Amino acid sequence: MIDGSLMTYGVIPAAGRGERFGGKVKKQFLALCGRPVIVHTLIPFQASPWIDDIVCVAPQEEIGALERLVTEYRLTKVKRVIPGGERRQESTQAALSLLEKEAAPGDIVLVHDGVRPLVTGALIGRVVQAAEKYGAAVAAFPVSDSLKEVSSEGLIRKTVSRENLWATQTPQAFRLDILAEAYRTAARDRFIGTDEAALVERLGIPIHCVEGSPENIKITTPSDLKLVELLLHDRMEKGDS
Ligand code: C5P
Repeated sequence: MIDGSLMTYGVIPAAGRGERFGGKVKKQFLALCGRPVIVHTLIPFQASPWIDDIVCVAPQEEIGALERLVTEYRLTKVKRVIPGGERRQESTQAALSLLEKEAAPGDIVLVHDGVRPLVTGALIGRVVQAAEKYGAAVAAFPVSDSLKEVSSEGLIRKTVSRENLWATQTPQAFRLDILAEAYRTAARDRFIGTDEAALVERLGIPIHCVEGSPENIKITTPSDLKLVELLLHDRMEKGDS
């Protein structure tokens, strides 16, 4: 709740099938320090004073399993677990269609990948506050590696200057009317983006970057999982998680 009237909704797309990752269990349900990845992701949202309500998107066949986790871990802000689509964009769209029916245009929608379990309450708060002020805000981090444009044969074509280049992460938060318009425009143009910012950018609306964290890792490969487990273990020992 921002000023007592506007609501802030968390949307957690967790409907991926983990085809790149491999294995029987989808990566959002793998155990990390004794709890599924998605539970680690949801706990800071449940605990955040900035988040009023959470919509979680899951693969159709995992809805029951996720609902059981929601009950077991008392994630009371997760009021709905809904089925996702083929792509992340379609999964988020499903949550947005639902929110458009019940939320106010000025409410804030904060989207966060289900497989980024190291998100913190502090980052959620910073992104929500920036979205409240500017209408559109994303967590991002300046790129530190050297960047190359590479041919399909794996040969370097040229170096791309990393000055002014940031990698976007989630959370990404927007006023509902802005995000809904961005999704409608993308659907009309058959545009597919890898994050919400890519869709909102097309409207010409300025999007503010809030400094994220290199620890806010998206679990994509088995080595990401190992790294996240080490970091989580460290946090749990310090009592931060
Ligand atoms: O595939 P990628 O790693 O980019 O997925 C980012 C997030 O989007 C994950 O939490 C994943 O579960 C979710 N996703 C989804 N629906 C899809 C594909 C991905 O909700 N069809």
